[in-house]
Amino acid sequence: MAMLQYPQIFFVLILFTAISIYLWKRRMLRSKQTSSPPTNWPVVGMLPAILQNKHHLHAYLTQILLGHGGTFQFRGVWFSNTDLLFTCDPNNFHHIFTKNFPNYPKGPSFKTIFSDLLGDGVFNADFQLWELHRRQTMSFLKGERFDGLLDEIVWNKIETSLLPVLDHFSGRGIEFDLQDVFQRFAYDTVCELVLGRDPVSLSIALPNVPSEKALNDAIEPLLYRHFLPETVWKMQRWLRIGNEKKLMDAAEALDKFVYPIVDSRMNSEGNDGFDLITSFKTVYEEMIGRNRADRTRVFLRDTVVNLLFAGRDTTSTTLTWLFWLIATNPRSISRIREEVESVIKLKDSKNSRLFGAEESRKLVYLHGALCESLRLYPPVALQHKAALRPDVLPSGHFLRPGSRVSVAFYSMARMESLWGKDCLEFKPERWISGHGAIEHVPSYKFAAFSAGPRTCLGKDMSFVEMKMIAASIIHRYDVDLVKDHPVIPRDSVVLQTKHGLRVRLIKR
Ligand code: HEM
Repeated sequence: MAMLQYPQIFFVLILFTAISIYLWKRRMLRSKQTSSPPTNWPVVGMLPAILQNKHHLHAYLTQILLGHGGTFQFRGVWFSNTDLLFTCDPNNFHHIFTKNFPNYPKGPSFKTIFSDLLGDGVFNADFQLWELHRRQTMSFLKGERFDGLLDEIVWNKIETSLLPVLDHFSGRGIEFDLQDVFQRFAYDTVCELVLGRDPVSLSIALPNVPSEKALNDAIEPLLYRHFLPETVWKMQRWLRIGNEKKLMDAAEALDKFVYPIVDSRMNSEGNDGFDLITSFKTVYEEMIGRNRADRTRVFLRDTVVNLLFAGRDTTSTTLTWLFWLIATNPRSISRIREEVESVIKLKDSKNSRLFGAEESRKLVYLHGALCESLRLYPPVALQHKAALRPDVLPSGHFLRPGSRVSVAFYSMARMESLWGKDCLEFKPERWISGHGAIEHVPSYKFAAFSAGPRTCLGKDMSFVEMKMIAASIIHRYDVDLVKDHPVIPRDSVVLQTKHGLRVRLIKR
């Protein structure tokens, strides 16, 4: 029998490798050009496709979902528990988040992914602990003092920080990153609301406040954890390298800021008036007992970090996209200006406090513009859950206990069947009824604030805050986008713009 000699073996190996590379490239090209599913490779599953498309994950996912009737099963690395059912089907969303809510906690897998940053805070908690968070946060955000406090803090920040910074840039014709300004604004404001302390990250010098930027550094690594096997990212973490190092540095920066405040509240006896940290401490101790100071301390840190995260990234991201959308649709700027000037009936045009929380509700067109920003670029672009018991989704997909499912809000906005042929267009009018009031759209269709028992608790306050900021800027300045600066979504758990929003302001 003829035996293969070494040169022949070498030749066969080269040929085999070349054919494999050719087939792989052809598949990758095909899956790029069409909505065909990513190749499910032995051992590594669909991970190569994710890595190859990591520069535009949300768009890539949308392309696949829309080509597969709105639901698609991602297969991860074998035995790594990274399979994930993606869906943008509103019926599935309604089923998981509302109708069959008890069967869909966040689950242990997602809890692990987010644990370094969010710990046992509201976003990461389930069952009894989540109920405690929800009750306490609600009593704070819906309390009778809250609207007045919000009004005071936001207008004060606009007067003492935002306008001086913007005047400084516009007066000198300096181009700057508006997203950065919004993040600093939102961070200072939410710190003041939740902690009663303003870290003053928004000032003309744009100082480096590590805890403020920590949240930016954390959100990209958190998305990759969804697809990478836990052992891989835990190894990176152990070695303190790459994305995991970023995440650890971010968590440490937040700890350095939050723990001293928590400690001082834990050690202070009594308080004049309502204090969020103290109120959480009381109810948590009722649940676990008084002699667990270490656990309580960590719990309070988690509670605070979750609220800072909730308040900073969502409003700043919405405002960033809003300004990009209106700058590319100038007609909408005139409409917002007319509305601010006529509806609010400025008594004294020199008064920087243009309106109060109650009057802000009359800004219907601006409300529609914000909703469009939230629809097209939902800050929380993906929302995950894990099935407790077996279930069949309205789309017919079966979920085993422990199966992970992620609802893609970014993709939902791009469904013609849901929003019509003009779904990709920015149309604030979409949100205004024939009578000129704000049109009610059910939450399973307009998903930016989530839906069901875990729906966002800060929705109302965020509209008030965002209207105050947007109206203050649009009323005073023309906003010019810096030419050729790319404005694309960042691949992270929060849909910020990847390279910021570079603008120049011209005082009107
Ligand atoms: C444009 C602004 C906002 C958007 C788009 C938004 C969106 C969301 C979304 C999608 C969720 C569900 C998250 C999850 O379950 O993982 C959520 C929950 C929540 N949001 Fe917001 N949010 C915004 C502003 C705020 C603000 C300003 C606050 C208050 C500081 C806030 C407080 C909360 C809280 C406490 C939850 C947890 C609710 C729960 O799990 O029961 N949000 N938000």
